[in-house]
Amino acid sequence: MRDDNKQGSDFPAPEAGVMPRHIGIIMDGNGRWAAARGLPRVEGHRRGVEALRRAIRIAGDYRIPFLTIYAFSTENWRRPAQEVTYLMGLLRRFIRNDLAELHGNGVRVRVIGSRENVPPDIIALIDEAEAMTRGNANMTLVVAFNYGSRQEIADAARRLVEMVARGEMRADEIDMDRLSGAMFAPDIPDPDLIIRTSGEQRLSNFLMWQAAYAEFVFLPQHWPDFDKAAFDQALAQFAARERRFGALPGVVTGGATNGLKVMTGS
Ligand code: IPE
Ligand code: IPE
Ligand code: MG
Repeated sequence: MRDDNKQGSDFPAPEAGVMPRHIGIIMDGNGRWAAARGLPRVEGHRRGVEALRRAIRIAGDYRIPFLTIYAFSTENWRRPAQEVTYLMGLLRRFIRNDLAELHGNGVRVRVIGSRENVPPDIIALIDEAEAMTRGNANMTLVVAFNYGSRQEIADAARRLVEMVARGEMRADEIDMDRLSGAMFAPDIPDPDLIIRTSGEQRLSNFLMWQAAYAEFVFLPQHWPDFDKAAFDQALAQFAARERRFGALPGVVTGGATNGLKVMTGS
């Protein structure tokens, strides 16, 4: 990643008039990548971390301000204990090995998700990563770990109801902004583009509230094969989309857009 003092970017997006401000990635297909090579699933996960490093670097080169990666879902606990343990270990090693470099590149790290069942030493590492990188401004890397959108929304609803019960808010004050504000990372803008690798065309409980007007790109490659060409393909597809936000093309007016803004260039 370059330093931020440099003017402009050496990496114009392919056919880009518009670059996404926030990209979410559902890194899928590690197991299938490994199975296709006769390797154990965990080898796919190990190689998936290398693809993740690539993706972060490319996003940095393109000056994408926000990147959210889906690392572990609340449903992934249903996998065999051995695989779950391996995935926990990968996050542990990722933070230990990569935090200094991320920090050096001006990346702010945020982790969204539940802390329930997460080993205490990983929680400590997450806290350390967030505290160390809090002031960084080149890019925000949001790691969705032990994350589930339904749980996030249910927790947000419960917190608001508790505020009402304590008399801190009236029930009729609960609106979309309040609900948004009660999510894990209310300061992060909604994703513009969600990429999922490995051909599956579903959200799997990822950012369901935030992705209301996201564009979706589904790539056939398995996650360990994700590279710059794949990234560019996703950006090119995004640039070719017409985002309307419920309005008519090019004439999104104020008022009833629920805070959504049409992007007017990169
Ligand atoms: C994505 O790869 C990584 C995680 C879900 C943690 P998978 O492990 O889901 O790989 P496939 O989908 O079984 O191939
Ligand atoms: C989504 O992938 C979760 C992550 C990428 C972390 P899954 O592989 O768990 O999703 P499903 O089970 O195919 O829907
Ligand atoms: Mg999968």
